[in-house]
Amino acid sequence: MALEDVSLHIEPEDIYGIIGMSGAGKSTLIRCINLLEKPVAGEILIDGNCIFRKFGKFFENNNEPELMLQGAELRNLRRQIGMIFQSHNLLMQKTVSQNIAFPMEIAGAPKHEIDKRVSELLEVVNLADKVANYPSQLSGGQRQRVSIARAMANMPKILLCDEPTSALDSLTTNQILDLLWDLNQDYKVTIVMITHEIELVKRICNKVAVIDRTRVVDQGEIGQVLLNPSMEITKQLLSGSRGTRG
Ligand SMILES: Nc1ncnc2c1ncn2[C@@H]1O[C@H](COP(=O)(O)OP(=O)(O)OP(=O)(O)O)[C@@H](O)[C@H]1O
Ligand SMILES: [Mg+2]
Repeated sequence: MALEDVSLHIEPEDIYGIIGMSGAGKSTLIRCINLLEKPVAGEILIDGNCIFRKFGKFFENNNEPELMLQGAELRNLRRQIGMIFQSHNLLMQKTVSQNIAFPMEIAGAPKHEIDKRVSELLEVVNLADKVANYPSQLSGGQRQRVSIARAMANMPKILLCDEPTSALDSLTTNQILDLLWDLNQDYKVTIVMITHEIELVKRICNKVAVIDRTRVVDQGEIGQVLLNPSMEITKQLLSGSRGTRG
């Protein structure tokens, strides 16, 4: 089992950090939020709406039919949830502006709206001068900024970030963190950010959950968790020591 007994509540406009060692289950957890992974059992609500519900054999009401968004409803949900990854996952045959426009084109947005949004986002991520460049002509940090702009194209309510800076140097990491912070402030987007580095959590997150081998072992306001780490794993992460599962 990749995750067990996980219960998290993320408030609108949180910058919610999820920290844990390699193999702990962080990516699996974040991928449940947009249903890229389908849980065996449990319940996921976005904005009060249930997007997945299935009671496992340990629940009394396990006869209830499974609920999972499908088709247009699922596409609509994913439009409200942007995602960025450790590697940028950009379309290499498309330019910077074409990459950012792509999610809006799929969503069927009118061209004038796409053009307006793309130029706005290019300013936000500070890449207006790279509009016609291809990803291969950009640095790692610039590519990650394009992928952030692309994730924001449909103005999602939620932005999922799976180790967005782990391939970047510390200066570039700080630029990306500043950008995520600005997006949270200016667009009121809720951010869920996975990392294995406590420094990143300290810099921008207001809340954090610590995952250790499939379970959330600590969670809450950042100050509370960091000042009074109740679990050994939190102390280890705080002290900067790293390890792998098993
Ligand atoms: N598609 C899959 N099928 C089977 N097992 C998987 C799958 N994806 C992940 N796992 C397993 O689930 C566990 C958690 O993996 P996950 O990718 O969520 O960890 P993580 O915390 O994101 O690790 P990392 O920091 O290395 O990215 C691991 O033991 C992994 O091998
Ligand atoms: Mg991962």
